[in-house]
Amino acid sequence: MENKERLKEKIIVALDVGTKERALALAGELEDARIFKIGMELFTAEGPKLIEAAAAMGKKAFLDLKYHDIPNTVGGAVRSAARLGIHMLTLHASGGKEMMTAAAGAAREESARTGRLKPILLGVTVLTSLKDDDLREIGCSRSTAEQVLKLAKLARSAGLDGVVCSPHEIEIIKKECGPDFLVVTPGIRPAGSASQDQKRIMTPAEALIKGADYMVIGRSITGAPSPHQAFLRIVSELENA
Ligand code: C5P
Repeated sequence: MENKERLKEKIIVALDVGTKERALALAGELEDARIFKIGMELFTAEGPKLIEAAAAMGKKAFLDLKYHDIPNTVGGAVRSAARLGIHMLTLHASGGKEMMTAAAGAAREESARTGRLKPILLGVTVLTSLKDDDLREIGCSRSTAEQVLKLAKLARSAGLDGVVCSPHEIEIIKKECGPDFLVVTPGIRPAGSASQDQKRIMTPAEALIKGADYMVIGRSITGAPSPHQAFLRIVSELENA
């Protein structure tokens, strides 16, 4: 793949909007963007029809519903996602090895059965909203950094393809889990843009250099006067990294 194309595939645009109309208008306007994050708010409002409409526009879906349930139930959800043609999805690594193994098996089986590409399965380790004290409160005595690494290794051993993590955890996860274990990172702000509520941010170029495979970027693209131009500026920033 040409370098520019490859870099466009690294940027996942977060469609943090409430309606299908707004989401599809953004996806249409972002003609160069390939992958869109659909989270709980939008999916709960609009459901699979939105994924089908995005696919009809040639867009790939990153379904961020953070599955966490018994292995049989999560396996079933992953099967449904694979049938829908989801490109990437998330599940909580804290759901345990058996749950993640069931998910990985379901993704493989359903893709083999339908002939569709297997969805990329990503573990969510520790939510960045949780601090060390919050972990202690739910009975975990490790620091968040230790717990992130422990869960990333567990996700890898269960057959997941990668994890979602903060840009500050990219290097340690790549080092401990290997270069092929994917890291997807939010908390990205292009040079010179507002940080909003994100605290420990990094620029797209910094995250790329540290080894991020994908970055989830929302408001600095979707809230820009021209989302299309904002997207292309980030691609250029990555090209120059
Ligand atoms: O607008 P912004 O670029 O901050 O959006 C980042 C996206 O990544 C949002 O969809 C947000 O839910 C998601 N995210 C995050 N921090 C995490 C996990 C996910 O910002 N730790």
